Amino acid sequence: MIYLGCDHGGFALKQAICAYLQKQGVAFTDCGNTKYDAEDNFPDFVEPVVQGVLQDQDNRGILICGTGIGVSIAANHHRGIRAALVHNVDYARLARQHNNANVLCLGGRFIETNVALSVVDTFLSTPMINQTKYINRMKAACKE
Ligand code: RB5
Repeated sequence: MIYLGCDHGGFALKQAICAYLQKQGVAFTDCGNTKYDAEDNFPDFVEPVVQGVLQDQDNRGILICGTGIGVSIAANHHRGIRAALVHNVDYARLARQHNNANVLCLGGRFIETNVALSVVDTFLSTPMINQTKYINRMKAACKE
């Protein structure tokens, strides 16, 4: 299952990604915000996404705020979450291949929608490279 969350800075992009996933027949859970609210706060939407992702190792999260920075910081405070702030398809591929990222963070004010949709495709379809060096680096990075 894919869990999505955003604040006002990411609302338009989150809607576009939801519509895209729906069109592709990909199952997802929209954790909000479900309406544009210029006063909402990104940590409120990180929490349900993180809880969803942690339920199963195959689950993924997509978090969007204005820059993607706030949601990355908030998500990475949770054990078991590996959130990556991604700006293009190469970052998305490497976030999966080398970092086994399970949460994709995007800056809604800084990424074009068509690029973001390609990033989502890449993030969801790329496996981690199953090599000891990458596995050990991530264990050390996550203090596991
Ligand atoms: C909200 O205006 C903005 O600060 C937020 O979306 C995010 O970019 C924070 O990191």
